[in-house]
Amino acid sequence: MATTTDFSHLPGRLIVVEGIDGSGKSTQLDLLHKWLRSEGYVTVFTEWNSSPIVRDTTKRGKRKQLLTPMSFSLVHAADFASRTYEQILPALQAGVIVLADRYVYTAFARDAARGVNRKWVRDLYSFAPPPSLALYFHVSLDESIRRIAAARAEIKFYEAGMDLGLSDDLQESFRLFQGRILEEYDKLCDEYDITRIDASQTLVSQQVQVRELVEPLLEGMPRREITKVPTHIQAGYASLAAGGAR
Ligand SMILES: Nc1ncnc2c1ncn2[C@@H]1O[C@H](COP(=O)(O)OP(=O)(O)OP(=O)(O)O)[C@@H](O)[C@H]1O
Ligand SMILES: [Mg+2]
Repeated sequence: MATTTDFSHLPGRLIVVEGIDGSGKSTQLDLLHKWLRSEGYVTVFTEWNSSPIVRDTTKRGKRKQLLTPMSFSLVHAADFASRTYEQILPALQAGVIVLADRYVYTAFARDAARGVNRKWVRDLYSFAPPPSLALYFHVSLDESIRRIAAARAEIKFYEAGMDLGLSDDLQESFRLFQGRILEEYDKLCDEYDITRIDASQTLVSQQVQVRELVEPLLEGMPRREITKVPTHIQAGYASLAAGGAR
């Protein structure tokens, strides 16, 4: 990522997760988040497309299907800019661990899949601090579709890339569009320092790898003293360690 500012002095850590829809990234980040908090680390969570300032505009544009690839890209960049300056940078300056569910690579992959110029998108996001760790959860299209079908009822218009006119059939369009995004993610892994995780593995084995990758980043990070872990949390972690959850 082209950086216009030097962020290397910031005392915090930035951990980001990436992957196509249904790859399991939110599940893994949530488990990591709970673990870090149980270990006493101070964390801030931020999610793609969640800025209160931009959300209503994005929602309206999506509902009325007004967004061209370029305007789609710009509203997401506006959302990202708002969260960067209000949440991410202040937290990194304060020495906090920031956990981001999707980061600039989501824009790089999706916008390129929509035909937006790759260099233009990278330049647009050049203000973004580079992550300390970027994890890419790689899963096949079939597995992602299976997981989405099991988890929720519908695939949304833009998620399926229906704005591109690839197919009139929502399922088919989703497959074609997400296939393009998968190809873009593959290229991004060569271009940037992104760690690829096989997301077809069980939830527990992925989480073990995630924690191993995160542990070296925790050295020197301030911790709150944990006096007593509530019994129900202890039980949850014991079950996770024993493979009780997938
Ligand atoms: N390793 C796994 N094996 C099987 N199912 C999984 C695994 N990880 C997550 N899932 C399930 O797959 C579904 C999608 O997971 P999750 O919401 O974490 O994906 P996501 O990558 O965040 O998707 P989105 O991009 O749509 O937010 C959920 O129902 C989740 O329980
Ligand atoms: Mg998610």
